[in-house]
Amino acid sequence: MWNLKEKKAVITGGTKGIGRAAVESFLELGAEVLFTARNESDVKAFEKELKERNLSVTGMVSDATLKQDQQKLSHWIEQHWGKLDILVNNAGVNIRKKAADYSEEEYRKVLEINLIAPFELSQKLFPFLKLSGNSSIINIASSAAMQDVGTGVPYAMSKSGLLQQTRSLAVEWAGDGIRVNAMSPWFTETPLTRTYLEQPEKIAPILKRTPLKRVARAEEMAAIISFLAMDKSSYITGQNIVADGGMSINAI
Ligand SMILES: NC(=O)c1ccc[n+]([C@@H]2O[C@H](COP(=O)([O-])OP(=O)(O)OC[C@H]3O[C@@H](n4cnc5c(N)ncnc54)[C@H](OP(=O)(O)O)[C@@H]3O)[C@@H](O)[C@H]2O)c1
Repeated sequence: MWNLKEKKAVITGGTKGIGRAAVESFLELGAEVLFTARNESDVKAFEKELKERNLSVTGMVSDATLKQDQQKLSHWIEQHWGKLDILVNNAGVNIRKKAADYSEEEYRKVLEINLIAPFELSQKLFPFLKLSGNSSIINIASSAAMQDVGTGVPYAMSKSGLLQQTRSLAVEWAGDGIRVNAMSPWFTETPLTRTYLEQPEKIAPILKRTPLKRVARAEEMAAIISFLAMDKSSYITGQNIVADGGMSINAI
């Protein structure tokens, strides 16, 4: 069915950008959603807004990289749902610099949030995903996983690692009824990219290279995430859906 009715879903980084649009889309399609982020007032404000619309949602202040927060999430799922149908590993960050200028703390932070946390959360929530018998993990990667797009090396490393994490888990967990896929956005207008995209010298080469001649909207990414979460995509696993307005097939 083209909906997410009766599905229980966790979306990390759900207060802004692509994660926020995914929360809205999942709720619209009938899922029950638990979303996370670190900033408490953002979490509370978004939860309140959605609950006022009588939607089945919970916001949790949770840092995807912290063991105690991963445990809190797992405990909540055990107490409230007893199983999990969908995990969207969306939380991600970037620090843009020349490779030689990164401190150890900076490149480790990018790798911790973008690459290690999705693995740890998938690992931690595996028993609940297995109990579902028909579940789906969606990892949000990036065009930077496949080509140099000027993001800085740690971000590119983290996202390409996430793609192979996706493929390897898809093979290992297929027998447990868990599909694992990735979605790779190109430039999408969100708080993460807003300042960057406001600079004329940055946006011009992006639009020149992109056949659709615009950056993406977060809702367009949420639609793909929603499809990968649905039973309608039941024969897709281990794949990376690239949503880049044609950028990667445009050689000249
Ligand atoms: N926008 C793009 O052009 C683009 C392109 C390619 C890929 N992506 C990927 O798409 C994903 C979403 O990007 P976005 O542009 O929507 O980002 P965004 O607007 O900066 O939103 C990121 C969300 O993640 C949360 N977050 C960050 N670190 C977290 C952590 N450690 N634990 C829990 N939540 C955390 C943020 O809230 P708090 O700060 O309150 O925690 C926020 O809700 C990321 O993985 C990004 O790499 C984006």
